[in-house]
Amino acid sequence: MPFNRNNPYNDLPPLPPKADLENAGILKLLASTSRNLGELKGLCLSLPDPALLINTIYLQESKDSSAIENIVTTQDELYRAATEDDSIGTPEAKEVLNYREALFRGWKLMNERQNLLLTSTMTEIVQVIKGNNAGIRNTPGTALKNAMTGEVIYTPPEGEEVIREKLTGLEQFINDSDRSRLDPIIKMALIHYQFEAIHPFADGNGRTGRILNGLYLVQQSLLLQPVLYLSSYIAQHKSIYYQLLREVTEKENWHDWVMFILTAVNETAQLTTAKIKAVLALKTELEMELKHTLGSSYSYELLKLMFELPYLKIELLANRGMAHRQTATTWLKKLADAGILVTQKKGRNTYYINHKLMNILTNNWV
Ligand SMILES: Nc1ncnc2c1ncn2[C@@H]1O[C@H](COP(=O)(O)OP(=O)(O)O)[C@@H](O)[C@H]1O
Ligand SMILES: [Mg+2]
Repeated sequence: MPFNRNNPYNDLPPLPPKADLENAGILKLLASTSRNLGELKGLCLSLPDPALLINTIYLQESKDSSAIENIVTTQDELYRAATEDDSIGTPEAKEVLNYREALFRGWKLMNERQNLLLTSTMTEIVQVIKGNNAGIRNTPGTALKNAMTGEVIYTPPEGEEVIREKLTGLEQFINDSDRSRLDPIIKMALIHYQFEAIHPFADGNGRTGRILNGLYLVQQSLLLQPVLYLSSYIAQHKSIYYQLLREVTEKENWHDWVMFILTAVNETAQLTTAKIKAVLALKTELEMELKHTLGSSYSYELLKLMFELPYLKIELLANRGMAHRQTATTWLKKLADAGILVTQKKGRNTYYINHKLMNILTNNWV
C-alpha cells in the first residue's frame, strides 16, 4: 500500500534502504566528518579528567535535545536545579536532568550487555526520561501532528506486535556489524530515521532517538563517551530536520537526510572539540587564579566542583564534606570578590557562578 500519512505506517520497510548511500557528495562529506569526529575522540582520550571537563557538555546536550520537544528551560533554572540535587527546580529543569540521567543509564546498560543496544535499553531510556513505567505503545491513536495547524503529518505503525517486530529488525541492524558494509556514521543516520519512524513510545521518541545516536557512536568506537553535542545543530535546524524525516517516508529521499545528519555530526564535532578545548584552557586559568586568591587554603576539590556544578552554594560545599560552613563561606566570598565567581540571589539562596564556564557553554561559536 502506498504511504498515507493518516494511516498507521505498518509497511515501514526494514533497513538498509535500496538507495545509493555512497555517492560522491556523501562520501566527500563523510571524509571530513570522520576526520572531525576522530579529532574529538582523540581530544577526549588525552584529557586529564574527562568526566570533569565534559559533564556540563552532557547537560547542554540534554537541554537542547529537550528544547527540540518544547521542554524549555533557562540556563539559570537548569544549573540551579543541577546544584540542588533535584529537591527544588522547575518541572522542565527536572526533565532535562532526567535526560542526562537517561543518557548515562543507556551507556551503562550498553556496557553491561556486551555493548549491545537492545529494545529493552531503549525502553529503559525512555522510562528515565519520562520518569514513569511507559513501555511500547499498545493502544492506537498516536499520530504526529503539525503543532500549528493540528494536521496529521505522520502516523507510525500500530499494534504492539508490529512495533516489536520492527524494533527487533532495527536492533539487528544496529548490533550486527557485518550485515551491511555501510560506514557507521551513515548507519547512524539510517538508524535515527528508522527509530523515529517506528515511534515505539507514546512520548519521548525524539529524545530517546537522539540519545541512541550518541550511544551508537560509542558502540562503534567512533567516540569514547557519548559527548557529541548534536542537538544544538538539530535544534537550530528543527524544521529541516522534521521536513527531511517526512521526505524519507514520502519520497525515499535518503540522500538529503544522510547529508543533513553528516553535516550535523561534522559541525557539532568541531563545536564540541572547540568547547572542550576552551574548558580545558579555562581549567588551567582558574587553577592559577584560585591558587593566587586562596593561597595555602587552595583546594583542587573546589576547582573540580566549579566545573562539575557551575552554580555553587555554601551549603553544597559543607554537605559534601569539603569544608566547614565557615571555611566554605570564606572561599566563595574571596572568589566572588576577585571576580572569579559571580553571585546570584534566588529566594533565600545565593549561588556562586563560574561565569566564564557558562560563557563557553552558551556561546555558539566554532
Ligand atoms: N515525519 C516524521 N516521521 C518520523 N519521525 C518524526 C517526524 N517528524 C518528527 N519526528 C520525530 O518525532 C520526535 C517527536 O516525538 P516525541 O515522541 O514527541 O518525542 P519527545 O517526547 O522526545 O518529545 C521528533 O523529535 C522527531 O525526531
Ligand atoms: Mg513529545
